Amino acid sequence: MNGDLKIHATVHCDVLIIGAGGAALRCGAEILEKVPGASVYALTKVSHPQKSHTSTAQGGLAAVDPKDPLDAPIYHMFDTWKGSDCTADQNVVKLICESAWEQILWLENRGMHFSRDREGRLSKRTFGGHTRNFGESSVYRAVFEADRTGKGIMDTSWGETLKRGITFFNQCIAVELLLKDRRCGGCIAFQQKEGQFIRILAKATIIASGGSGQVFRVTTNCRQNTGDGLALVLQAGLPIMDPEAVQFHPTGIVGPGILASETLRSVGGILRNRDLEPFMVNYAPKMKELAPRDLVARAIESEIREGRGIVNPDHNIPHVWIDLRHLSDEVHEKQIPEVSSFFKRYVNLDTKKDLCPVRPSNHYHMGGIPTNQYGEVEDANQQVIGGLYAVGECAAASFHGFNRLGTNSILELITMGKLVAERVIDRVKGEPTRPDDSFRGDYFAARFAAYVQAVGSESVGALRNTMRTTMTEKVSVFRTEKSMTEAIEQLLELHERATRAPLTGRGLAGNQELLNRWELDNLLQVAMTISQAALHRKESRGAHFRDDYPVRQDAFNYHTLTSMNTFGAVEIGRREIDMSLFKAGGPHHEKFGYIERKY
Ligand code: FUM
Repeated sequence: MNGDLKIHATVHCDVLIIGAGGAALRCGAEILEKVPGASVYALTKVSHPQKSHTSTAQGGLAAVDPKDPLDAPIYHMFDTWKGSDCTADQNVVKLICESAWEQILWLENRGMHFSRDREGRLSKRTFGGHTRNFGESSVYRAVFEADRTGKGIMDTSWGETLKRGITFFNQCIAVELLLKDRRCGGCIAFQQKEGQFIRILAKATIIASGGSGQVFRVTTNCRQNTGDGLALVLQAGLPIMDPEAVQFHPTGIVGPGILASETLRSVGGILRNRDLEPFMVNYAPKMKELAPRDLVARAIESEIREGRGIVNPDHNIPHVWIDLRHLSDEVHEKQIPEVSSFFKRYVNLDTKKDLCPVRPSNHYHMGGIPTNQYGEVEDANQQVIGGLYAVGECAAASFHGFNRLGTNSILELITMGKLVAERVIDRVKGEPTRPDDSFRGDYFAARFAAYVQAVGSESVGALRNTMRTTMTEKVSVFRTEKSMTEAIEQLLELHERATRAPLTGRGLAGNQELLNRWELDNLLQVAMTISQAALHRKESRGAHFRDDYPVRQDAFNYHTLTSMNTFGAVEIGRREIDMSLFKAGGPHHEKFGYIERKY
C-alpha cells in the first residue's frame, strides 16, 4: 500500500464547508462579505467547483416580485405547503418565501444574466403547483436564465467567493466528522490526488454536499451525487430526516434519465400517450401539465402501467411523449435551447419536428440532515450539535416536506445559504478559540484499511449497479411492502458482499477505485434508510406513494427520523411538523391546516 492511513497534517480555519455547489458558495460568499478576512475552506469532491450539480439546474428560481400585483408571498407559502402534502415546516416556508426576492436582487446585483422580456423586466415562467390566489390559476413566479439557471448561479456565487478569498480543496472528501461533547470541531478529509488524510479543525462546519441521486439507476443527478453528507452524519450516530421522501422528475430523457426541464411544460409542451392523447387532463383536470411533480410522475407511470406507453424496440424502455412541435421558433431558441440540444445529442431528435420520449427519473431528495430554521444540525432528540450546520439538498429544514415544487430548490439553497451564513457568523464571532487537538478521528482509518485490504471476487462496480437497479425497480414512484422488503434483503446482501470486493490497486494516491468503494458504502447506507423509512410509513404522502396504502393518513403527520448504528438496523423516530402559520390563526390560516390536495 502506498502512503498510510495516518493523519498527514492538521489545518485550522474559521469555517469549513463540505461541498462547493450553490448552497455552499452562497453561504461562503455571505460569510466572507460580512467577515472579511475570515478563513473559509470549501472541500469539493470534483475537480472544480463549477462541476457541482447545481450547474445543471435548468428551470429557474421561484420568488414573488413585490411589484407583481397578481402574486404575494402568502400564495407561494400556500403552494409550498400544499405541494409538500402538508409536511413542510411552516416556520421555514415563511422565512424562505418572504426573503426570496431579496436573493434575486443579490444575484442580479452581482452580475447574474437573468432572462428579460421586451420591456427589459425580468422574465418569469410558470412551474408546476405554483398558483395565485390559493390555487385559483397558474402564476408566473420563476425567474430564470434561459434553461441554464444553475450555471448562472454558480458563475455568480463562485466569482463572489473567489473575489473574497475562499480556499478550495478540490478532489477532497470528508470521511469523518470530528464530534466531542455534542460539538463538532471539523472533519477528517481525504485528498484524493495525494492519497493523504488531513484533519481540518474549524469553529463551524457546514455540510453542503448535495444530493444522493446515484442511489437510483435512472436519475437526473451527476455521477458525484452519492449521498456522502447523509452517510457522514449517519456514521457519526446522527439521524437523517424523511429519507423516504425522494422526488422523481416526471420528464427524464428516456434511457439516460437526463433532465428534460419542467420548462418544457411551462412553455406549453403537452404530454401524450401511445394514442397521442393528452392524458394529464384525466389526472389533474385544472392544472394538467402544470400539476406538481409527484402527481405528473404518477400519471406518466400509470399510463405506462395501463398499457398506454410506447415501447421503442431499440431500447425497450416504455415511455410517453412530450410534444413541443407546436411551439414557436422563438420559444425553442430562446427558452429551451439547452434541453433541445440534449434531445438532439442523446436521442437524435429535433424538438421542433419530433415527439420526444420521456419517463420519470430520480431527481431530488426532500429528506436529509435534520436542521432547524437556521441550518443548525439536530440529533435524534432535536438537540442542536454545536458548530455543525447543513444546507442545500443534503439538508432538511424542511422547506419541501414530501414533495418539492419545481424552482423551489434553487430558491432554497440561495436563501438558506444566506440565512445559515448569518448564524455561522454569530458563532465564529462569539467563539474566540479554535477546536484543539482533542478532536480526533475514531474510525476513518479502520474503514479505509478494510477497503484496501479486502480480498474476494466481488466487484464494486457490479454491486453498485445492482443496488441502483434494485432501488429503481423496487423503491420508486410506486412502492409496496413486498417490493421494499425485497430491496432491503438485497441491500443487506450487497453490503455483505462489498466486504469481499478487492481493489485492483491498493495505493491511496489517485485511486478512483478507492473512491468508488467509499461511495458504495455511502450509497448503501442511504438506500437502506430510504427503504426502511418507506416501509415504515404505511400511507401515501407527496412523492412517497404506496400501492398498498394509497391514502394520506393523519397518524403519519410527522417527519421520520432514521438512525443506523449497525447496517440494516434502522431506528425510527419522529419530529413534529411545524404548523406555526396555522397556529398563528391570522388571515388565511385555515389554508395551512391538513388540507385536501387536488389540482
Ligand atoms: O425541471 C426543472 O427545470 C427542474 C427544476 C427544479 O428541479 O427545480
